[in-house]
Amino acid sequence: MRLVFLGPPGAGKGTQASRLAADHGLCQVSTGDILRQAVANGTPMGRKAREFMDAGRLVPDEVVIGIVRDKLAAPECAKGYILDGFPRTSGQARALDDILLDFSAPLDRVAAFVVDENSVVERLSGRRTCSACQAMFHVKFAPPKAGGQCDRCGGTLVQRDDDREEVIRKRLSVYAESTRPLLDYYRQQGLLTEVSAGGAVDVVYAAVKAAVGIR
Ligand code: AP5
Repeated sequence: MRLVFLGPPGAGKGTQASRLAADHGLCQVSTGDILRQAVANGTPMGRKAREFMDAGRLVPDEVVIGIVRDKLAAPECAKGYILDGFPRTSGQARALDDILLDFSAPLDRVAAFVVDENSVVERLSGRRTCSACQAMFHVKFAPPKAGGQCDRCGGTLVQRDDDREEVIRKRLSVYAESTRPLLDYYRQQGLLTEVSAGGAVDVVYAAVKAAVGIR
């Protein structure tokens, strides 16, 4: 199964993609996670990406398209994948079409997460991520058992640099301008299903599975 999760920052794409991937043996391809790892490792790509990410802007298309092309060709994605956070521009969407054509493997469905802006800001400003294993928590909705430590590995929980309110607002405006038009792009291809993503994680999970045709 080949899926795209589209939606504004903080809509819950990563939370749902990680769960669906684990439950159904799919590969989660999160361009945000890959870029953050490159930043943490101080690679040339990471150094280039950092200034864009910290400002809430999109990393240039040629960088992310290369990442996705390599990842989709990897053996771990052969059984199926969830693209989480890609495509985000019309250039990326067209490049994805070309990649899928090369692989003779079209998308099955695009799930568009729909959630109001206040919920997004609340979700993002309360998000905490483990600096060691990248597990995700939320101070209110998914609190860690032991204060500022990760339940899974004991690592320190940190707030993402781009989860400050002024950067969140910038990311939302970039989403509206560059990414929201992709909803029509996929609607016209008959691939889009909207998912109401404002409820609790389990409720949204059931809606996501229904949207992509998984029981
Ligand atoms: P990226 O990491 O992709 O960020 P994003 O799209 O802004 O999405 P988020 O990870 O912030 O939110 P999400 O929808 O995954 O929500 P999550 O599940 O984490 O990108 C970061 C940056 O990298 C971009 O700004 C850009 O610079 C660059 N980049 C990445 N991809 C790019 C691309 N294709 N092109 C160019 N640049 C790119 O949940 C958020 C919080 O809410 C968590 O704390 C979670 O616990 C909580 N939560 C989740 N679901 C619920 C729920 N149902 N109820 C209550 N709380 C919930």
